[in-house]
Amino acid sequence: MKNWMRSLVVLTAVICVTTAMSFAASPGEPVFKAHCQACHGATGTPNAGIAKMLGVKPVSDPSMKKLTAAEMITAVTNGKGKMPSFKGKLSDAQIKDAVSYFRTLK
Ligand code: HEC
Repeated sequence: MKNWMRSLVVLTAVICVTTAMSFAASPGEPVFKAHCQACHGATGTPNAGIAKMLGVKPVSDPSMKKLTAAEMITAVTNGKGKMPSFKGKLSDAQIKDAVSYFRTLK
């Protein structure tokens, strides 16, 4: 019983540290998951239905790769095609963080 409890405490501590580290490494991750993932997919690749319906390109697409962070921020802020504008919904900093996170996806 005691050993079991100890393992649980250790495991919880490990999970806390890992979570804290991933937040520190990328403040944009929670923003991306909450506001972008539905269309762009958790890994930056939309599911086939959404890709076809909305015209979302995967983050690995050459046309996506050639965009600068500034171009992406402008597209997200003002909206583009079927992507809504995030002006007023997210702060400039949140948009910047979400774009930075998006750019780390492969
Ligand atoms: C409602 C679905 C939807 C949501 C939510 C959404 N996007 Fe998009 N996104 C799109 C579509 C559709 C396009 C393709 C636009 C086009 O080129 O016509 C796109 C394009 C982009 C592009 C490429 C822009 C360009 O210039 O080609 C980036 C970068 C991007 N999205 C990032 C984000 C980020 C970051 C978020 C969250 C803050 C987000 N998107 C949320 C649908 C969405």
